Amino acid sequence: MGRLSGKTAMITGAARGIGRAFAERYVAEGARVVIADINLAAAQKTAAEIGEKAIALPIDVTDQDSIDMCVRQSVKELGGIDILINNAALFTAAPIAEIERADYDRVFSINVAGTLFTMQAVARHMIERGQGGKIINMASQAGRRGESLVAVYCASKAAVISLTQSAGLNLIQHGINVNAIAPGVVDGEHWDGVDAFFAKYENKAPGQKKKEVGEAVPFGRMGTAEDLTGMAVFLASDDAEYVVAQTYNVDGGNWMS
Ligand SMILES: NC(=O)c1ccc[n+]([C@@H]2O[C@H](COP(=O)([O-])OP(=O)(O)OC[C@H]3O[C@@H](n4cnc5c(N)ncnc54)[C@H](O)[C@@H]3O)[C@@H](O)[C@H]2O)c1
Repeated sequence: MGRLSGKTAMITGAARGIGRAFAERYVAEGARVVIADINLAAAQKTAAEIGEKAIALPIDVTDQDSIDMCVRQSVKELGGIDILINNAALFTAAPIAEIERADYDRVFSINVAGTLFTMQAVARHMIERGQGGKIINMASQAGRRGESLVAVYCASKAAVISLTQSAGLNLIQHGINVNAIAPGVVDGEHWDGVDAFFAKYENKAPGQKKKEVGEAVPFGRMGTAEDLTGMAVFLASDDAEYVVAQTYNVDGGNWMS
């Protein structure tokens, strides 16, 4: 018997990286999961690799129709959604003088509006169903303070922390717990992209920034996606009933709050 035995989860951006690790762990804990991603082919491959308890569905969290369709289809396939992880996000970096409005719009429409309106769509389902639920938003240490080259992404993750607080306070009356996880630096394809931004703006050799941030973590290395899955299981489990509107740092000691 896993800790999420019989539960159902929809996880956005789960075709790869941290979302994929969440899906794998949730299935290992007895849940059935929807791998919801804008990259349907990658989502299907991931679902096939995880096994029959994972199914792939398309979602573009910037598009309301797409969100609604994915939630409807998830409810149909799973018989209801107990857990949502708002994990899809985009990283961007630039000095303030070079930020482009289109880049800001894109990042905010995925990281902030995407999180809010996917949360809303699933919360409506959970309220109507009357069985409560668990919603986990992916924040970041980047949401805890600004960074010189990362204004837009940092602001978007600060907004995720704030939305988690408001939604957590508003939805607990329906038995829906909303909380967030703030990872630090997690190795994977996402950070390969981050490394490339720093190589460009800080004149570093490829891989140099990754090495530096890893060495700076009090734990002694970068995180892995698997380092985050325990918190994601806890926040989705019955043990987290009394945990409301919080953002948990899972970052090897990088940030304390
Ligand atoms: N990797 C890190 O170091 C780190 C640190 C802190 C927070 N985070 C957060 O953790 C979460 C997962 O990060 P990751 O490293 O696995 O990222 P990733 O870039 O590896 O994966 C993101 C996934 O989201 C999907 N996606 C992108 N746009 C989408 C859209 N419009 N609709 C639906 N899906 C979309 C992508 O196809 C991809 O599968 C993100 O919220 C990220 O901000 C990551």
